[in-house]
Amino acid sequence: MHEIMKSRRSVRKYTDEPVTDAAIRELLEAARSAPSGHNLQPWRFVVVRDEHTRQQLAACNHNQMFMADAPVHIVVAAYPRLKEDETIPFVDEASPEHGVKQGIRDGAIAATYILLQAETMGLGACWCGWHTQEEVRAVLHIPEGLYVVGIIPIGHPAETPEPRPRKELDELVHWEMWGE
Ligand SMILES: Cc1cc2nc3c(=O)[nH]c(=O)nc-3n(C[C@H](O)[C@H](O)[C@H](O)COP(=O)(O)O)c2cc1C
Repeated sequence: MHEIMKSRRSVRKYTDEPVTDAAIRELLEAARSAPSGHNLQPWRFVVVRDEHTRQQLAACNHNQMFMADAPVHIVVAAYPRLKEDETIPFVDEASPEHGVKQGIRDGAIAATYILLQAETMGLGACWCGWHTQEEVRAVLHIPEGLYVVGIIPIGHPAETPEPRPRKELDELVHWEMWGE
């Protein structure tokens, strides 16, 4: 697992080789096995193979057209956590509710599992999140109560990117107490 985590890169160039449905299923099974608060599993996935739809998703991610070159996108969306008497609220980038954050948190774990599973399978993937809820929902007909956590284009890699820099542990970690 350490090797997989170390070797994973955001891959933005893909060959023409298709990703089989069996491979897509393996990626989804990995996501399904992710942990979530109260085991609510609030994530939902839209698998997009259609080229025109992939182009639309790339366009509403600030025209990052490399996305459309990947033969499949997995779109990860999540329901906010609701109290018993609550109905599903409208959620977007400005939603302050705690339950929305919980949904996003859990969806992010599922997306991470997909990235790691892709790496174990020799596939290249890149989490893309430069979209608005409104635009992605409109393309995929996703209901307003789900938050689109990320779009993950996946394909066979046509590049081997160098590692991107990471902060030193000293900058990130406090031992026992903040400031220590
Ligand atoms: C939430 C999130 C959103 C991201 N959105 C984009 C994006 O829209 N386009 C893109 O090319 N990369 C995107 N990335 C990839 C990051 O740029 C990349 O993870 C970071 O530069 C570190 O590089 P690495 O993944 O190769 O280690 C995103 C990553 C995350 C986690």
